Amino acid sequence: MQLTQSEQAMLEGAYGRAVQKAMQILVALGTIYGAERMLPVTSVQVAGVSYDNLGDAGLQFLNEMADGGGRARVLTTLNPAGMDIENWQALGISPDFARQQERVIEAFARMGVMTTCTCTPYLVGNEPRFGEHIAWAESSAVCYANAVLGARTNREGGPSALAASLTGVTPYYGMHLDSSRKPDASVHVSAAIMENDEFGALGKAIGERLRSAGNSVPYITGIEHASPGNLKSFCASLATYGGLALFHMPGITPEAAYVRQPLGGIIISQADLEAAHRSICDASDEEVDFVSLGCPHLSIDEIARIAELLEGKKVTKEFWITTARPVKQIADRLGYTRIIESAGAKFAADTCCVVAPIKRRFRTMATDSAKACYYAYAKNGFKTVLKPFDQVVEEALR
Ligand code: F3S
Repeated sequence: MQLTQSEQAMLEGAYGRAVQKAMQILVALGTIYGAERMLPVTSVQVAGVSYDNLGDAGLQFLNEMADGGGRARVLTTLNPAGMDIENWQALGISPDFARQQERVIEAFARMGVMTTCTCTPYLVGNEPRFGEHIAWAESSAVCYANAVLGARTNREGGPSALAASLTGVTPYYGMHLDSSRKPDASVHVSAAIMENDEFGALGKAIGERLRSAGNSVPYITGIEHASPGNLKSFCASLATYGGLALFHMPGITPEAAYVRQPLGGIIISQADLEAAHRSICDASDEEVDFVSLGCPHLSIDEIARIAELLEGKKVTKEFWITTARPVKQIADRLGYTRIIESAGAKFAADTCCVVAPIKRRFRTMATDSAKACYYAYAKNGFKTVLKPFDQVVEEALR
């Protein structure tokens, strides 16, 4: 790779051990993917924050980077941690886990990373503009950034995202290039789609079809309206089931206006959508003992809706509402937290039902998120029920 003078100095250790290690990671990555040079980034989002995923080896790596003088050079935020940083006891997290999780957060804080632990950084001030080059790691956020915001990012791993933060650059390949962002498949949706769970099922139907055909950037027609909540759900599912990082949707995503729709393509019918939806659910309502909303993390208007539905009522099951700490603080101020907690539901800020250490603690989870269903089964051993947002809240009250 061709490095600038300062990048070469970083590689040779002139900026300290941590920056040298970071540049070594990026050069190795760029060499593997054939990048000719590095590219400055303006924003980073680091994943691999939960101690449940990192373990002691991951914590040691972070401490070494902090001790070695690593400091964030650009706006850098974190993916969800394994617990609510302020309220972990209420979620049944053990003190041993909490201490280790706090050490992880401290290591990031020492490096100047903003410890807003969320997979929706674009809702809390880390919101890149169209065409901006960034280095994000959380797959749902990567898809949202590329498709909905029109920013440009590969799906970084935890170490490569941190390396981008400490150096301010990333290898110039993949989603940063115009050529990789052109659609290579046409998809027409003839099914009626309105709710988050339906957008999640659509993400599964499209993701699996494209993955098996070897395509990676769909141009999707037939969707006339999609709310930010719908798009969060769709991006999360498309990334989970198809490994996709970008799609174009005319009238909805900004880059669709600059690319050409490929000829031919596939159709997703109502029957395809319903089959995908059925394949995600493997339990009945009667089996539900855990309810969770907020995958990806909730926006303030979604929390307002939960408060409206719960006001004056009592939940009968463990109900987690997962969101970013700053969004929870707005909910506190607006009175939504009081209504929700009076109903017996719990906020799980900074974390989520997938990265928290809750393996086998519950039998069956109800949610509106296809991504949450996938990991609830794969990581935590839960059965799942997928429903529209309002019906998930009703499920908690039944
Ligand atoms: Fe976010 Fe956790 Fe879902 S990180 S996208 S809420 S699995």
